[in-house]
Amino acid sequence: MAKTCQLVMLSLLSFSAFISVMAEHQPFMSNASLKGKKQTHLRFFWHDTLSGSNPTSITVAKPSNANTSAVFDFGFVNVFDNPITEGPELESKLLGRSQGFYTDASQNTEPFQVLFSSLNFAFTEGKYNGSTVTVLGRNPILSTVREMPLIGGSGVFRFAEGYALLHTHRFNPQTRDAIVEYNIYVWHY
Ligand SMILES: *[C@@H]1O[C@H](CO)[C@@H](O)[C@H](O)[C@H]1NC(C)=O
Ligand SMILES: *[C@@H]1O[C@H](CO)[C@@H](O)[C@H](O)[C@H]1NC(C)=O
Ligand SMILES: *[C@@H]1O[C@H](CO)[C@@H](O)[C@H](O)[C@H]1NC(C)=O
Repeated sequence: MAKTCQLVMLSLLSFSAFISVMAEHQPFMSNASLKGKKQTHLRFFWHDTLSGSNPTSITVAKPSNANTSAVFDFGFVNVFDNPITEGPELESKLLGRSQGFYTDASQNTEPFQVLFSSLNFAFTEGKYNGSTVTVLGRNPILSTVREMPLIGGSGVFRFAEGYALLHTHRFNPQTRDAIVEYNIYVWHY
């Protein structure tokens, strides 16, 4: 496994404690500094498998006038519970699961189909075990690199903010199976 395929977790700044400066005589005027966050870079591969006997991604809605020759069609909805792994192979180290849905939300944007993607990442490895982050946004799947906002997190990633860069590693237009590389830059305490 190439070193670049490892989950990179770089803490660039030292931990900064949550500072409460609420005065006892001002119970409704508490405030806290959101400064002093550190950055963590998470890199992993997301496996969206629709084909075969054990799909982890299923189409739950399709427009009645679906264009069968198009790879994606405006209005379809897929729900997934996908594994995320350290390397591009499904057999590489499992880091957690990605649960959510995506829908084709673009009507007239050929050849750039645009998904609306909503993903929770629930990590099960190391110090991130039990922590989650949520990525939500516009996903023009034919662009080489897509950027989506990271809108929050839990556990280690409480108060998280950041962004995700998506790059399709492999896509099969017949089955619509995809392997997508995620690089997530997250600022948190
Ligand atoms: C926190 O609240 C106190 C009391 O209202 C105020 O004086 C102070 O400027 C506030 N600090 C910040 C960073 O908002
Ligand atoms: C159906 O999809 C194909 C392939 O994307 C496209 O060439 C064609 O124009 C579409 N037909 C309609 C009616 O939208
Ligand atoms: C992750 O946490 C769960 C629940 O606490 C625990 O059962 C599991 O063994 C942990 N996994 C790893 C790899 O530490």
